[in-house]
Amino acid sequence: MTHMTHHSTHLPHAPSLVITNLAATVKGVQVLDGLSLEVRPGQIVAVMGPNGAGKSSLCNVIAGHPFYKVTKGHISLGNKDVMMLAPDERGRAGIFLAFQHPLDVQGVHFGAFLLQIYRQRFPDKSVSDFYEALDKSLAVLHLDRSFTERQLNVGFSGGERKRAEVLQMLMLQPTIALLDETDSGLDIDSLAIVAKAIDALVKQGAGVLIVTHYNRIFEQVKPDVVHVMLKGKIAMSGDANLVKELEHKGYGWLKPGALKVV
Ligand SMILES: Nc1ncnc2c1ncn2[C@@H]1O[C@H](COP(=O)(O)OP(=O)(O)OP(=O)(O)O)[C@@H](O)[C@H]1O
Ligand SMILES: [Mg+2]
Repeated sequence: MTHMTHHSTHLPHAPSLVITNLAATVKGVQVLDGLSLEVRPGQIVAVMGPNGAGKSSLCNVIAGHPFYKVTKGHISLGNKDVMMLAPDERGRAGIFLAFQHPLDVQGVHFGAFLLQIYRQRFPDKSVSDFYEALDKSLAVLHLDRSFTERQLNVGFSGGERKRAEVLQMLMLQPTIALLDETDSGLDIDSLAIVAKAIDALVKQGAGVLIVTHYNRIFEQVKPDVVHVMLKGKIAMSGDANLVKELEHKGYGWLKPGALKVV
């Protein structure tokens, strides 16, 4: 595919995520069935599609979730073979997943967790670098330190959970961010704040894959490519206009394999 990016890239050597003919199962259920896509540096790639199409499965497989078994195909990040990397190594390599349903982790202090993941990703940075990055990231999200003084996601509202995921994204500065319905449940102001955070990351050269059911985030960050997933594969690809078309027509008219590449 030869989609051009609209975004400026400050990391000329940032890697692309390339997924080729990927098939995967979870508990014997086929969730991906020959899926190919690419996320280039500075690009926003949207993945839409009906419930159960395999969007979260795709994100989980890229992140290396241990329950999923890849049965075919390939995932690479630049010259790295992602499939050879353990989930934590994928994280250190710059792949980040914001979960659709972030879990409560009783007994884990959010701030201590952020310090841990920051030091894993940036072993040469100091604790004061961490606090500098933390305060900057909190400011972007209009949050204060008290947010990080709670247990991870415990008692967080739906929107707070999503913002906690975005805070982790800002701290880790991923080269590839997978945002699985991060826009769901955000109020209008929070959505605008999160859109700004995504835009800033993309301008630094990251590639962002956004899984969503709604057009509203794309009123603030423009996708370069939009893919529609059906039954574990991409049924159609287009540009931002496809999102509006889907909003009017739904998914019923699409057939797996009826490919239109714009
Ligand atoms: N652990 C599991 N055991 C059995 N089936 C599973 C498991 N995980 C996923 N599936 C099935 O795989 C299919 C794809 O699920 P997935 O969560 O990837 O869909 P999705 O596109 O993200 O849907 P949604 O829009 O509702 O989030 C679904 O039919 C789901 O029930
Ligand atoms: Mg999902």
